[in-house]
Amino acid sequence: MKFFADTAEIADIKELAATGLLDGVTTNPSLIMKSGRDFIEVTKEICGIVDGPVSAEVVALDHDGMMKEAEKLRKIADNVCIKVPLTIDGLKTCKALTSDGTMVNVTLCFSANQALLAAKAGATFVSPFVGRHDDNGFDGMELISDIRLIFDNYDFGTEILVASVRHGIHVLQAAKIGADVMTAPPAVIRGLVKHVLTDKGIEGFLADWAKTGQTI
Ligand code: E4P
Repeated sequence: MKFFADTAEIADIKELAATGLLDGVTTNPSLIMKSGRDFIEVTKEICGIVDGPVSAEVVALDHDGMMKEAEKLRKIADNVCIKVPLTIDGLKTCKALTSDGTMVNVTLCFSANQALLAAKAGATFVSPFVGRHDDNGFDGMELISDIRLIFDNYDFGTEILVASVRHGIHVLQAAKIGADVMTAPPAVIRGLVKHVLTDKGIEGFLADWAKTGQTI
């Protein structure tokens, strides 16, 4: 499963990229707002740090407007992936852009039927939001299972990008289901390495090593 960082914070992206575990980045208008940076500038900087896809979201709601914005965004770098909302205009834009060889991430997916439409529109990625789905009394992971089943039934090439990931259990479940990608806040990705027994084990080994009086 590929790991994308869901952030526009450069320091976090650099730190995760240095581990070699980062396969891409997703941003959205709220994350750009949080960063306090200029959208085009920060996207360009992120694209220079990671080799993989960097999602940059359009804000127009109509097809023509989305195409105009996508035109500007895709000039930023070769690894820009245009993010469009799961609406009729978004799907139309997705079809037009992917037919032209541009990567597209169809975002704000909350049903398996919506994901089916994104796949039919040729999306590179579809982003079901598991956390927000859970928050509203639905089962986010059941949605991922349904999408996996449907995409496998028809051999769709669209990658399932599990979004709105809130904790390690989401990551584990997404991997068990066979999701292609998950995007999570840097803190969630960093948290995956933590285990109390790992820390305890290191502590014990170091204490015994000190008793040997040796160095490596
Ligand atoms: C995905 O691309 C979105 O940016 C993101 O995962 C939304 O997550 P949130 O529900 O935590 O805002």
